[in-house]
Amino acid sequence: MTAIRILQYPDPLLKRKGIPVKDVQDKRIQTIIADMFETLYASENCAALAACQLDIPDAPHITVIDISENKNTPLCLINAEITERIGETNTSEGCMSVPFIYEKAKRAEEIQIKALDQHGKSLDFHANGFLAKCIQHELDHLDGLLFIDQMSKLKRSRVEKRIQKGQHYQRIAESRKNQDS
Ligand code: NI
Repeated sequence: MTAIRILQYPDPLLKRKGIPVKDVQDKRIQTIIADMFETLYASENCAALAACQLDIPDAPHITVIDISENKNTPLCLINAEITERIGETNTSEGCMSVPFIYEKAKRAEEIQIKALDQHGKSLDFHANGFLAKCIQHELDHLDGLLFIDQMSKLKRSRVEKRIQKGQHYQRIAESRKNQDS
């Protein structure tokens, strides 16, 4: 298994849509799922990842999630669809592809989801709380959307500046680290 590079905003590949999976048992798909879990568990503070935010050519419609404290409850959703949305929340979110930014995003409070798991088994379940938020965030990735796309123009331009500043200081820190070693 190999960890995959997580694409960073403003990489245009983050606007891709996930390609529906025809055959879950396909070797390439199974390898991608294993590598996505590897990437999830290798990344600090990472609850979920979508194939579209990773350096995967022809990213399939797959998300991997593990919101458990001990990181021992993997959940893989393939071709997932939200079939019902109930209520609304507006709480803080972050994203592995949008560093330094934690901002409020609007989500349904509860959702019903239809998907396949990594074995091709049909799932139809209800989610609320953090899991519901995660699934909606990841399904947005598979639609080419980021949580910052929800923002007003004004807020968005402020956030863009914060991202650029953060990336600027990160580059300085990295070049210092390289000089040291
Ligand atoms: Ni994200």
